[in-house]
Amino acid sequence: MVTQKEIQSVHLSEIIDSAMDAIISLDSEFRVIIFNHAAEQMFGYHASEMLGKSLKKILPTDVQNKHDEILRRFILTASPNYRGKTHGKIRGVRSNGEEFPIEAAISKSQIDNEIILTAILRDVTEERKNNLKMEGLLKENDYILKEIHHRVKNNMFTIFSLLQMQSSEASSIEAKDSLIDAAGRVRSMMTLYDKLYRNEEMLQSLNLKEYLPTLTADIVGIFPSTSPIQIETDIYDVSLSIKQLTPLGIILNEFITNSMKHAFTGRENRKIKIQAFFENETVTIVYEDNGVGFHEDNIASNSRGFGLQMVNLLVSQLNGTIKSEKTEGTKFIIEFKI
Ligand SMILES: Nc1ncnc2c1ncn2[C@@H]1O[C@H](COP(=O)(O)OP(=O)(O)OP(=O)(O)O)[C@@H](O)[C@H]1O
Ligand SMILES: [Mg+2]
Repeated sequence: MVTQKEIQSVHLSEIIDSAMDAIISLDSEFRVIIFNHAAEQMFGYHASEMLGKSLKKILPTDVQNKHDEILRRFILTASPNYRGKTHGKIRGVRSNGEEFPIEAAISKSQIDNEIILTAILRDVTEERKNNLKMEGLLKENDYILKEIHHRVKNNMFTIFSLLQMQSSEASSIEAKDSLIDAAGRVRSMMTLYDKLYRNEEMLQSLNLKEYLPTLTADIVGIFPSTSPIQIETDIYDVSLSIKQLTPLGIILNEFITNSMKHAFTGRENRKIKIQAFFENETVTIVYEDNGVGFHEDNIASNSRGFGLQMVNLLVSQLNGTIKSEKTEGTKFIIEFKI
């Protein structure tokens, strides 16, 4: 008569043998007592060559001496009925001498006062290869991306320089101004690009605190100025996405350009002030100059130039609002949600 225990035991060994992962059990003297079919295929040894033996054959030489000590420590670290797993990257050796990476889960159980260790092992050679391949591809991608950014930056700089050179050679004031305007628009994009692409990586967002003061200084710097411009900034610590920064940069470029072109004629004390606040998910940008002044209730319908029309378009692109306020000079307030 077959006992229930025997049925269970046969059933269990069938399960162990049909497992996809290698299963190896060791007795308390670290001799192999289970070496399943997947283990045979993984290591290239028949179970009969392993049973009753130590694991030495399937361990790399530098681990052979340490291995028993590691197992002993593993047994001591927990109470007798502790069942744990250790996950880590370890290595095995096949019968043909080939070393390969393994991922292992080791557990211990106590049977009749004897501690049995069982390791479930997975050959991760392919996975490692794929990971390395992936890493290589990512590095290559990164390199290409960097190269593209580098070239875009260089190209923008070339365009900017050409426009500046042309503006200094243009004979009519209108042509000069137009070329300086165009250079300013390129410059504002360059500043953003430069900021985003620092630290060898392309950032997806940027803090206004970092962006706006440089942007302002860069654009003001384009204009040949006799008396210095005082720039005051009070910028809240808030990061915006490139999607919002690009239109915002161009808007500010138009404001600053306008101040430089129209506001300060005949003025000695020249000042530009930019503030940025953030509250209730809303960014408020306040732009001011202390120039000759420009007051329009609705700048969209009254603007004759291209600059402020573009500002309106860009503000609606931000789903924001713009208004101007009466001051001694010019003041614009833009609000949009982050
Ligand atoms: N900060 C300012 N101070 C005084 N006047 C201004 C200021 N900003 C704009 N203006 C006036 O509003 C007009 C419209 O400005 P807008 O930027 O739309 O056009 P523009 O600067 O003349 O030309 P463009 O921007 O197309 O090069 C300007 O011509 C100028 O008269
Ligand atoms: Mg303008």
